[in-house]
Amino acid sequence: MSKLLLIDDEADVQYSFQRIFDSPDIELTTASSGEEGLRIIPGLKPDLVIMDVRMGGLTGLETLRRIHHADPKLLVILMTAYGTTQTAIEAMKLGAYDYLLKPFDVPKLKEIVFNALKAASDMRQVVSYQPLLEKEDYELGIVGRSEPMQQVFKLIGQLAASDATALISGESGTGKELVARAIYHHSNRSQKPFLAVNCAAIPEQLLESELFGHERGAFTGATLQRIGKFEQCNQGTLFLDEIGDMTPATQTKILRVLQSGAFERVGGNQSIAVDVRIIAATNRPLEQAVAARQFREDLFYRLNVVRVHLPPLRERREDIRLLVNYFLKAFAKEHQGAPKSIAPGVIRALEKYHWPGNVRELENVLRRALVVSKGNAILPVDLPPEITGLGSAAGIPGTVSLPAGEGSTADIAAMARQLFQWARRDPKLKLIPAVERELVIQALKETSGNQIQAAKLLGITRATLRKRVEKFGIQRELSIT
Ligand SMILES: Nc1ncnc2c1ncn2[C@@H]1O[C@H](COP(=O)(O)OP(=O)(O)OP(=O)(O)O)[C@@H](O)[C@H]1O
Ligand SMILES: [Mg+2]
Repeated sequence: MSKLLLIDDEADVQYSFQRIFDSPDIELTTASSGEEGLRIIPGLKPDLVIMDVRMGGLTGLETLRRIHHADPKLLVILMTAYGTTQTAIEAMKLGAYDYLLKPFDVPKLKEIVFNALKAASDMRQVVSYQPLLEKEDYELGIVGRSEPMQQVFKLIGQLAASDATALISGESGTGKELVARAIYHHSNRSQKPFLAVNCAAIPEQLLESELFGHERGAFTGATLQRIGKFEQCNQGTLFLDEIGDMTPATQTKILRVLQSGAFERVGGNQSIAVDVRIIAATNRPLEQAVAARQFREDLFYRLNVVRVHLPPLRERREDIRLLVNYFLKAFAKEHQGAPKSIAPGVIRALEKYHWPGNVRELENVLRRALVVSKGNAILPVDLPPEITGLGSAAGIPGTVSLPAGEGSTADIAAMARQLFQWARRDPKLKLIPAVERELVIQALKETSGNQIQAAKLLGITRATLRKRVEKFGIQRELSIT
């Protein structure tokens, strides 16, 4: 549950917040003045403060200054009526997280609050990276005893002790963000902000202004000045995720900040100096992007001062058992129950699988298994068929969810794409014979073994069907009546 503190002297606003944030995940507290807010904060320990700029008594700016004096990491979003935007900008410079214009748009408000709560939890939840001890191993941590993970832990320790720029690489779901947060939490900037920007998730045109801010009128739609993440994160740590997806213009600007510690807002000509530590991450090999001239070589070398490479899970299978224990304990803690036990066959199947989605996929598979499992143990049937190989003699998953359409070639293409995904994970699978065999089996099942009807369903002659049945040895395996 996240704690939200609203500081606003207008009863209307308090009332609408109560309605908008009426959710079991959010505990909303309200205060009617800056003074009252400051009194409540130490006991309440909110995750996020939303505050009006203009109030009787202490102004929003002064309140913000005092909040940050006591706790530089507490995130504050300011609300301002159009006429007082300049104050909001001032407040951003003082370290406010964001600002909202009144009257506010509810979806926008929710989006900003959601993002801020994510940022708050990144800043507050300490990520430990030492191999966890038994009793505390459900705390947020990076699990792994394999040799490559030991190397990663060493690097995190070295990086935490320095201010160097780091580049974290690894396939999707290997734990790059977790490592970035561990470096931050153990660094001497841990009392300052940590902000994350996903460069791939923000449209190209907006990324530059998200990072560097913009001046009013810098482009169509830029009706207000905006402070970017680099300014918001001054003295803190900025995590640039999916850095390979930046345009050349943004790359150039990042390079400049790294070299000189200064930049200009989009559309501005005043140089702004900042002190920000950068941790970057990428899931595609940047060396290739450099070779293909999609990524600036000089920027690559600037970022790559210290490289942390997270090996895919299939290259550290000895960690799988540990991760399974860790996740089951963590989920049990979430649901305040006892962890479910796990059948030995399940661990074996998990250790064999090649995990294209890495630790995130393992986490999801276990979450799903918990939901579908009956009783207090997880069994092989609770795992997806591509992991256990159950569900079909040929090793193709037994459950194929049909596309919604009427069976057009487009739908078949969609299914074919899905089949290729499975085929890629299993180098031994011969796709066409496997699919053909399965189709014949299903057609015979559908028609209770009537070869004339089955052939019709398959769109082949009865003679061809017979040959297939023979070739695949289907009669022997299936008790077709
Ligand atoms: N070694 C680990 N120990 C415990 N949990 C882990 C570990 N590695 C990853 N996780 C968990 O797996 C999930 C994915 O991790 P994370 O988001 O850090 O991966 P990522 O490399 O940033 O992935 P992507 O490239 O898809 O963004 C998270 O829930 C994270 O907590
Ligand atoms: Mg990530």
